[in-house]
Amino acid sequence: MGCALSGLGWQRRASVDPAKPEPLPTLNLSQEQHRLLVESWKLIREDIAKVGVIMFIRLFETHPECKDVFFMFRDVDDLRGLGARKDLRTHGLRVLSFVEKSVARIGQSARLEEMTLDLGRSHYAYNAPPHYYQYVGTEFISAVRPVLNEKLTPDVEEAWQHLFTYICTVMKWGYQEEERKSFGGRSGTPRSQQAREATVA
Ligand code: HEM
Repeated sequence: MGCALSGLGWQRRASVDPAKPEPLPTLNLSQEQHRLLVESWKLIREDIAKVGVIMFIRLFETHPECKDVFFMFRDVDDLRGLGARKDLRTHGLRVLSFVEKSVARIGQSARLEEMTLDLGRSHYAYNAPPHYYQYVGTEFISAVRPVLNEKLTPDVEEAWQHLFTYICTVMKWGYQEEERKSFGGRSGTPRSQQAREATVA
C-alpha cells in the first residue's frame, strides 16, 4: 500500500471546529430503496472492475487535487493511460468491495456504522480529508450510468445518493475522531460512542 503522507511540505490542519460536531447520521432507507440498491448492485457487480477504473479516472479528471492524495498516482499526467494500470484497477475494486459490503449490511446498522467509522479513521492516516468524499458518490453514479442504462431511474439514483451521503458522513466522523486524538482532543470514550449513548438516553 502506498503512503499518502509522504508529500514534501505536508502539514496537517484541523478540518472541523471540535466545538461544533455534526450529528452521527442513521441510514434511513425505505424497503423499496433497499431493494433497488440490492437489485442494481447485481448488475453493477458484473462490470465491477470497469466501474472502479472509470470512477477513479473521472474523480481525478474533475478533482485533480484528489489524485495528489494518492502516493502511487500523484505523478501521473496521462489520466487515460491510468486506465491500463493494475494498481488503479486494484484500488477501484477495493473501494467497490466496501460498497458491496455496505449494501449487504444495510439491515445491520451497528456493523455498517462501525466499519464505516473505521474506514474514516484509516482515511485520516491516508491524509484524505472529508470534503473530498462526496465526489466519489457523484463519480460512482456517472460510472454506473452506462452499465445500468435505463435501469438507472431517478429512484435508483436517489437510493445510491442516499447510501453515499451516509457513507461520507460517517467516514467524516471517523476521520474527525482520529483528528481530535492527534490534536489533543478529549481522550477516553470515542465521540461516536458518546453520540450513540446520547441517542439511547
Ligand atoms: C466514499 C468515499 C470513499 C470510500 C468508500 C473509500 C474507500 C476506500 C477503501 C475501501 C480503501 C482501502 C483501504 C482501507 O480499507 O482502508 C481506501 C484507501 C484509500 N483511500 Fe479511499 N475511499 C473514499 C474516498 C477517498 C477519497 C476522496 C480519497 C482521496 C482524496 C481517498 C484516498 C484514499 C487513499 C490515499 C487510500 C490508500 C491507498 C493506498 O495507499 O493503497 N479515498 N479507500
